[in-house]
Amino acid sequence: MGSYKKEFAAAGNAPGDKAGSEIPENSSAPADASRYASALPPGVPVKDDAESFDNPVRPLSFGEYIGQEKLKKNLLIFINASKKRALNLGHHDLDHLLFFGPPGLGKTTLASIIAKELGVNIRITSGPSIEKAGDIAALLSAVSNGDIIFIDEIHRLPKPAAEMLYPAMEDFKLDIIIGEGATAKSIRISLPRFTLIGATTRAGLIPSPLRDRFGFTARLEYYGAGELADIVIRSAKLYGIGIEEPAALEIARRSRGTPRIANRLLRRLRDYMVYLKKERITVEVAEFGIENLGIDVLGLDSNDKLFLKTIIDKFGGGPVGIETIAQAMNDEKDTLEDVVEPYLVSCGFILRSKKGRIATELAYKHFGLAKEDSMF
Ligand code: ADE
Repeated sequence: MGSYKKEFAAAGNAPGDKAGSEIPENSSAPADASRYASALPPGVPVKDDAESFDNPVRPLSFGEYIGQEKLKKNLLIFINASKKRALNLGHHDLDHLLFFGPPGLGKTTLASIIAKELGVNIRITSGPSIEKAGDIAALLSAVSNGDIIFIDEIHRLPKPAAEMLYPAMEDFKLDIIIGEGATAKSIRISLPRFTLIGATTRAGLIPSPLRDRFGFTARLEYYGAGELADIVIRSAKLYGIGIEEPAALEIARRSRGTPRIANRLLRRLRDYMVYLKKERITVEVAEFGIENLGIDVLGLDSNDKLFLKTIIDKFGGGPVGIETIAQAMNDEKDTLEDVVEPYLVSCGFILRSKKGRIATELAYKHFGLAKEDSMF
């Protein structure tokens, strides 16, 4: 499914190397998408992301960013303290950060906002697009003092690349092997002070030497309906779409707690609005569109429903292994684990046990079924 494809962007805001300059305490600069130009060194592969940096609704400051209140508060404390230290040190010293949580909750956005608050460049790449240790060397040797490096899906970094990060994160040194075999020599080069922000949907898959080198780990939570409705209203304004408040709340309730899904649903409902010859998205437009898109009352789409029905209909409700479910659905195990399952677990529809996945009584009820002799 296209929407499940991993999404990345090459981005680098280009305010120049501002490390050490006096940075305002709490900036809230207006949106300026033009500052995102590709800033990765040649040879470091990245993917484009249609929903990314040319996205007019992506918040560009903590002031614009709705939700994740506890995390924003903590990040601002860390950022402001490191900006104060920058006045003496000549550069900020923000520790490496690890964000984890399901896709679409704003990990990349937060990393970009942090870079903007610090007034530094951000270089964005992803674990799967880094093939070898040399790619990490290329990435790190292009950093300027204070830069932020963002690695999405960091759990998918190849082992030699992850290992090259250890001394870089800890001592800001890069160990490079020159030559091969008996004549190979290792040289150690110093790197500018940089901050690595890693993002992952699967914190458990990050090797512990890498995990231990992050100074702060944050879990991004699913958004509440009120927060998502505020996001939808803000996005509608930026897209120039008229929307009634109850319709925004309807979108919020059907978006699996995820801003990316809410914004995508808003864009689809804009199309239904045109089809229905309406001036704005009303509740009627929202209900018509949502019905036609096959999204149910909890925001479950056809793939979510297929996942649950596969466990219930083909495997008697489980327990059944994720590989077996993936085979039965003709889908990828990683996609099911990263994208589909977390929300179903958060709804209480799925239990993960050692023996496999189990559909709970709640899941049965959702389909109007009864689970016989249920313990779950
Ligand atoms: N668009 C996507 N995520 C958002 C957020 N957290 N706040 C405001 N707008 C958004």
